[in-house]
Amino acid sequence: MNPMVKELRQALTSVDDEAGLEAVRVEFLGRKGKLAEAMKALAGLPLKDRKGEGAELNAAKQEMESLFDSKKNSFEHKKSSGLANTEWIDVTLPGVAPAEGHLHLTTQAIMEIEDIFARVGFTRVTAPDVDWDWYAFESLNIPKDHPARDNWETFFAAPSEASAKEGRLGKIVLTPHTSNSQVRELEKGKLPIRMINVGRCYRRQSDVSHIPMFHQFEGFMVDKGLSVTHLKGVLDYFAKAFFGPTRVTRLRPHHFRFTEPSFEVDISCGVCDGTGLVSGDKCRLCKSGWVELGGAGMTHPSVLEAGGVDSSVYSAFAFGWGVERTLMMRDGIHIKDIRVLYQNDLRFLNQF
Ligand code: FA5
Repeated sequence: MNPMVKELRQALTSVDDEAGLEAVRVEFLGRKGKLAEAMKALAGLPLKDRKGEGAELNAAKQEMESLFDSKKNSFEHKKSSGLANTEWIDVTLPGVAPAEGHLHLTTQAIMEIEDIFARVGFTRVTAPDVDWDWYAFESLNIPKDHPARDNWETFFAAPSEASAKEGRLGKIVLTPHTSNSQVRELEKGKLPIRMINVGRCYRRQSDVSHIPMFHQFEGFMVDKGLSVTHLKGVLDYFAKAFFGPTRVTRLRPHHFRFTEPSFEVDISCGVCDGTGLVSGDKCRLCKSGWVELGGAGMTHPSVLEAGGVDSSVYSAFAFGWGVERTLMMRDGIHIKDIRVLYQNDLRFLNQF
């Protein structure tokens, strides 16, 4: 047996960790180790000895490698058999169910509203929620500096350089209502129109019944010969489909610059059941038994004209309601403060 083999066997007996094993590998089998040196020395031998000596060295090499491997395997084995004691799991234990999410209450309401209107032929459209002043105000008969603008406490956005050059459409606003979709839809030139636009709106407001970012749904119907009767029919259809037959609606005369005549649509309050009182105290939400859902009216001729539609041929009606207010008025949903919808408190959200 080659003395190197014996030497390696001896060295391995005193190795008891992986660092020691590596040191022995470098000493015997490394690039500059004992075996490599012996191989190099072969070249200096006379040709006749070289063959025999070479064969012997190769056999020694194989033996040394297998000695080394078996020591290495014994370490691996020790390590993995130890694992079974320290890192075991009981696969028969019941699992931990992952948390399951669901759609936000507002999203559920939007989908339902969309579905109710789809059943009577209203198609969902979208309009930008960052839009030109023209679509949010000017084209709706609300010129610059008109006092009516005060009702829409508007956020303005700084225009980019490119859009500032296009000044004809005015400033850029975060849309304070979804009515910006009306003239945008008329401009598409496809009549008649039966659309529903559900979108985000922004106003500088925050209290129990106002939030700075909320949603509205805007209904807009354009055809020949439409009247208030058609508008009332659509509103009643929606109120019955969404709230059920026990809730009552009322129309109050109102004024919007883009409808004539104009109405506020109210529904009896779901928190106090239309009485205005909760346990003897004034209802915090409605104070009167009625909650305003939104506005409605027959579209002003100048809005149709702004969208390129002949108002002597076509008539139209529109309505715009708050989604959050609408869902708050539902039976069984007792939300006393609208802001709770967006406070991301799972104790509240998980109830729906
Ligand atoms: C409008 O915004 C009109 N564009 C509605 C309209 C459309 C009239 C088409 C005629 C024809 P108003 O400002 O009243 O109207 O807002 C409509 C509804 O949006 C309100 O009744 C309310 O339900 C909801 N709303 C308004 N501001 C807030 C707010 N800050 N937080 C939550 N809901 C709001």
